Amino acid sequence: MSGNKAIDKDSISNVFRVVIGVSLVCSIMVATSAVLLRERQLANQALDLKKNVLVAAGKYKNGMQSEEIEDAFRLIKPIVVDFEKNTITTEIDPVTYDMAKAAKDPDTSVAIPANEDIANLRRLPHYGIIYLYMLDGKIEKIILPISGLGLWSTLYGFISLENDGVTVSGINFYEHSETPGLGGEVDNTAWQKNWTGKKVYDAEGLPKIEVVKGSVDTSRSGSEHRVDGISGATITARAVGDMVRFWLSDAVYGKILKSITEEGNE
Ligand SMILES: Cc1cc2nc3c(=O)[nH]c(=O)nc-3n(C[C@H](O)[C@H](O)[C@H](O)COP(=O)(O)O)c2cc1C
Repeated sequence: MSGNKAIDKDSISNVFRVVIGVSLVCSIMVATSAVLLRERQLANQALDLKKNVLVAAGKYKNGMQSEEIEDAFRLIKPIVVDFEKNTITTEIDPVTYDMAKAAKDPDTSVAIPANEDIANLRRLPHYGIIYLYMLDGKIEKIILPISGLGLWSTLYGFISLENDGVTVSGINFYEHSETPGLGGEVDNTAWQKNWTGKKVYDAEGLPKIEVVKGSVDTSRSGSEHRVDGISGATITARAVGDMVRFWLSDAVYGKILKSITEEGNE
């Protein structure tokens, strides 16, 4: 007989040992994959944002691979705007800055006065991003983030303007929870095309654009400031017009947009 005591596999202490060992291995595996996946998730989010900016600018082609998106995005110059001072700032990195996150934090945002809050957002981040699509050193398109409350959710997207800062070249949304087939039709390219060529400011430079109920009567004056509605989804559709007017107002992107376009067109 050997002097070693045989391990009793069924003993309580051995069961505990096995359970703790297995849990430890599992938690290490879960933690490691969470860290590794987080990096990939962030990279995918960054790529998705670039894709959506390109979609708004009309520069995205279906099926573009990640390298092609990165390549196309090289023509885009992101700049950061200080909404309070109406200046461009280099203090914030546009690559890592998250406007939606900043808007939720009282330290990095400001309350929007109720009478100005036509997009029902409650808070405005201190800084905003503008994406300039540059060609041969000149601004070709100006892409602005937009957001606002629809019927069920806050919609997040982009509006792209021609370099006059007034004519719409495109609009798209990358996040919302409106009803598919109703408010969700904001994602329908057929509806989005109604925006192309519309004018977002009046002659005095005040935001003037709305989504109507039904179709726009193009024989009536001012139809360049009106966009066809979405049948059965007037609330979401109207909200899109409201949010565009909000972000283009002088309290938000308006002043800086005008100075960029004046400079660019001198
Ligand atoms: C289940 C359900 C989901 C709806 N989802 C939306 C929506 O996402 N956006 C929207 O504007 N209206 C939605 N509506 C309809 C609104 O309640 C409202 O009737 C509509 O916006 C009015 O538009 P209309 O005047 O074009 O019919 C939904 C209604 C129901 C019953």
